[in-house]
Amino acid sequence: MRLIAIAIAVLGSSMAVIAAEGELDAMRGNVPLLEERTPEPLYDVENEDLRRVRAYPMQPPTIPHKIDNYQVDLNANRCMSCHSRVQVGESQAPMVSVTHYMDRDGNFLADLSPRRYFCNQCHVPQTDAPPVVDNTFVDIVELLRQPPDTEP
Ligand code: HEC
Ligand code: HEC
Repeated sequence: MRLIAIAIAVLGSSMAVIAAEGELDAMRGNVPLLEERTPEPLYDVENEDLRRVRAYPMQPPTIPHKIDNYQVDLNANRCMSCHSRVQVGESQAPMVSVTHYMDRDGNFLADLSPRRYFCNQCHVPQTDAPPVVDNTFVDIVELLRQPPDTEP
């Protein structure tokens, strides 16, 4: 009996969440679920060719150039035609780091590790779209500079 009461209480509160949907979901532009929103325009991919700061040391860097029509499949890896060890002399692109040549046991391979083959699993280009949610991220360097007793 008590379980049923709890179940009803949980159901009740989730109904309240659904009712407040329009106010909650910024990703849908605060439009109620059953209404169709005006679609966003297609934003431009940033193509400044300037490498961006990483948020933390092991972050996969975002791609600072367009990747339209760069084929990555069983037969070809367009990214590696510029970023592989042997191509950087000609392309002047930064070489994929040494982790891309390591297998999961930490052994160094002669060529790109299969687990790093599909670059866009981890690396993505950026568009000039305005952010849909606020971001309060603070770089660790800033945090370390704050006196110990202040709130971030
Ligand atoms: C025609 C050569 C070329 C191709 C093809 C290419 N890149 Fe690049 N890439 C560059 C160059 C040059 C840079 C250095 C910054 C710049 O000039 O854009 C770069 C920068 C990057 C960076 C930033 C590195 C950092 O340290 O910030 C990433 C990540 C990257 N590319 C990923 C990719 C991926 C993924 C692909 C395939 C979808 C790709 N690139 C295809 C030439 C290339
Ligand atoms: C499983 C995730 C993953 C995949 C797949 C992957 N990368 Fe990375 N990449 C990373 C991470 C994490 C870093 C930063 C730390 C490091 O160097 O390992 C990085 C770093 C880089 C850098 C900067 C190297 C440097 O020394 O500054 C380039 C360029 C790059 N990747 C290109 C590529 C390309 C091209 C591919 C596809 C062939 C690829 N990556 C596939 C995760 C990945």
